[in-house]
Amino acid sequence: MDHPEEMLGGKTAEISQEGCDGRRRSFLGLLLGAGAAGVGALLSVPLFRFILHPLLTTTSSSSWKEIGTVEDLASITSPVKKLVKIEQRDGWRKIVSEKALYVSKDATGRLCVFSSVCPHLGCSIAWHDEKSNFVCPCHNGQFTADGKLLEGPPPRGMDQLEIKVEGDMLVVHYQNFRQLVPHKEVIA
Ligand code: FES
Repeated sequence: MDHPEEMLGGKTAEISQEGCDGRRRSFLGLLLGAGAAGVGALLSVPLFRFILHPLLTTTSSSSWKEIGTVEDLASITSPVKKLVKIEQRDGWRKIVSEKALYVSKDATGRLCVFSSVCPHLGCSIAWHDEKSNFVCPCHNGQFTADGKLLEGPPPRGMDQLEIKVEGDMLVVHYQNFRQLVPHKEVIA
């Protein structure tokens, strides 16, 4: 028969061995958990970037577009309407829309291009041959052929767009501007 002290010693050794194994297991468990959390965090970065993409990017629509040959446009005697296709990026969406603009001449006879968006509340301005004016139908804002405000509620003249000549083509930089403010302010 075993001596009680020996038995007790053996039990203590077993308990201590089990304690060691338990600590090793829990340490390995922690290590695995931390590893899995790290891998999960790394994999979730692209997902979060995708989800947050619309919040991190601003809507943009400005672009350069050809509107006709300089030779053809040089012969205009009154403002001529042109349509350009503009791509807008808004978060994940790509929107293609047609925008109207007017090619005209300033007092010195140089070509100039105006947005047809009224700087008052954004209605479409149109050229009226019989009045020799641009007129906005919404609140009767009126502008001269070179875009100056004649009368009505718009806070400024028509918004002139940047242009340049590439080869024989006149190219316009289409942009949108803030409404209801006295000075031209680009918003997209
Ligand atoms: S929107 Fe053009 S005058 Fe009001």
